[in-house]
Amino acid sequence: MAQALVTGATSGIGRAIALALHGAGHEVIALGRNAAALQGLSALGMQTRQVDLADAAELTTALNGLAPDILVNNAGVMPPLGNFCDADLADIDQAINVNLRSVLALTHAIAPGMRARGHGHIFFTGSTAGHAPFANLAVYCATKAAIGGFAQALRLDLAPHNVRVTEIVAGRVETALYSTLLPPEARAAMYAGNSAVQPEDVAAMLLAVLALPQSVDVARFDILPTYQGVATGTPKKEA
Ligand SMILES: NC(=O)c1ccc[n+]([C@@H]2O[C@H](COP(=O)([O-])OP(=O)(O)OC[C@H]3O[C@@H](n4cnc5c(N)ncnc54)[C@H](OP(=O)(O)O)[C@@H]3O)[C@@H](O)[C@H]2O)c1
Repeated sequence: MAQALVTGATSGIGRAIALALHGAGHEVIALGRNAAALQGLSALGMQTRQVDLADAAELTTALNGLAPDILVNNAGVMPPLGNFCDADLADIDQAINVNLRSVLALTHAIAPGMRARGHGHIFFTGSTAGHAPFANLAVYCATKAAIGGFAQALRLDLAPHNVRVTEIVAGRVETALYSTLLPPEARAAMYAGNSAVQPEDVAAMLLAVLALPQSVDVARFDILPTYQGVATGTPKKEA
């Protein structure tokens, strides 16, 4: 069985992926900030590292000595929803640091070992927001579009070395992503009536992709609620 490093393993999609990989017999190293959630994963037998991905030095220290066969770049943040003109620069920096810079740094630390060993699989949790415009999400869209471009180009660099790369293009998944951005009633309405994919569905797809023969790489898969299109409607004209 392989060793897998999962970021954002303390909640939502990453937690479901960590549990699925652990359940499939892989040795999981779970990253996140939430100490209680990490403790819960540790109690299940996973290795854990408490790390703030926005802190470059902390990330470097956390990765010291690790050489996983599977890397799941999953952690991400959604900056406050709103018109880009009103966005706070600190929120923009945080989104870029967590959603993009830390992903490049982490991959840069781990991928050379996979290339040298001649095997490995790197997953990225991208988003439909990286492939279609969504109003009030310009910075999030920018970071996820960058992840999509990076994943597809990286795949070409690593394919000759037998290392696979997969971008997970997720639509609406019921997680804590909007928990600080929307009031509880609005979140509940968003997820009502089977209108969201569950984190476990994404994890099941990841396991299926991983189980394919080494000669097969799913470069990307899109996973959306059945009803969901790939883009939101036209912006409203302000009065
Ligand atoms: N939910 C959706 O509808 C949806 C759709 C498309 C794509 N995605 C993507 O899916 C990924 C997972 O999000 P989710 O939906 O599962 O949301 P979530 O439940 O809020 O989980 C986010 C995870 O990211 C981690 N994280 C955030 N900031 C961090 C930081 N500074 N340092 C370390 N870890 C950090 C959190 O860990 P701690 O709290 O422990 O720090 C948490 O484990 C994200 O990349 C998101 O953009 C989600």
